Amino acid sequence: MTPPPPRKPLIAGNWKLNKTIKEAIELVTLLKRLITDFQNVDVVVCPPFTALSDVSELLMESEIQLGAQDLYWEEKGAFTGEVSGALIKDAGAAFVIVGHSERRQFFHETHDTVQKKTKAALKNGLIPIVCIGETLKEREASKTFEVLEAQIKGAFTGFNKEEIQQITVAYEPVWAIGTGKVATPAQAEEAHAFVRGRMQKAFGEETAAALRILYGGSVKPDNTADLMREPDIDGALVGGASLEPNSFAEIVKNAGVAALR
Ligand code: 13P
Repeated sequence: MTPPPPRKPLIAGNWKLNKTIKEAIELVTLLKRLITDFQNVDVVVCPPFTALSDVSELLMESEIQLGAQDLYWEEKGAFTGEVSGALIKDAGAAFVIVGHSERRQFFHETHDTVQKKTKAALKNGLIPIVCIGETLKEREASKTFEVLEAQIKGAFTGFNKEEIQQITVAYEPVWAIGTGKVATPAQAEEAHAFVRGRMQKAFGEETAAALRILYGGSVKPDNTADLMREPDIDGALVGGASLEPNSFAEIVKNAGVAALR
């Protein structure tokens, strides 16, 4: 069996509910100037829906790629306020974040909705970045692996290998999101290795070995390299620091350097 190609790190910026169209254009204009080396790292920005189309136009000639932050699983119809995978694709995005902990926490997303959204993303040719991760309470109760296992099962039941080969997973411990409290490289690696192990059990060695697993939670320029040097950490999903052009560019640069490990 030929070994799968090494996993190229992916740095994705999740802008959350931030940036007007004008601000988005300003940020991306600066990022295009600051990020020029894509040899060892892939880069994605995920603005709010309202800015997707304008940012897409701006990224036409760039290697920076575009993602949305959520999608609805139905294609069209009477679903007021929702945005389908087809519409996201139409706006120019190639990626979509699914099941972010803020969606699970504030908008009642369940294993079932995450699974449906992941399927819908794939159906529309979007790469889903599927988020999983435990809360502080769950970690303190030693339930981290149990929670991750349930989230993996919930999201990927009914998927085949070919589908899993199109997805990216993001491990985002909820206690590290927006808190400035980053998981140590060892804590993150332990969780990532666990996730890869479960994916291996379910979908085989080759699929698991090729799967990109991103870390998310208080990623900053000065903690990026140490995280990225861990064998099972293949990039980052960045919140706060992705809103600041110099920080995001620095994270991308540090991830690229660490990839040469
Ligand atoms: P922060 O980088 O702000 O902690 O957010 C992480 C996150 O939720 C990315 O999706």
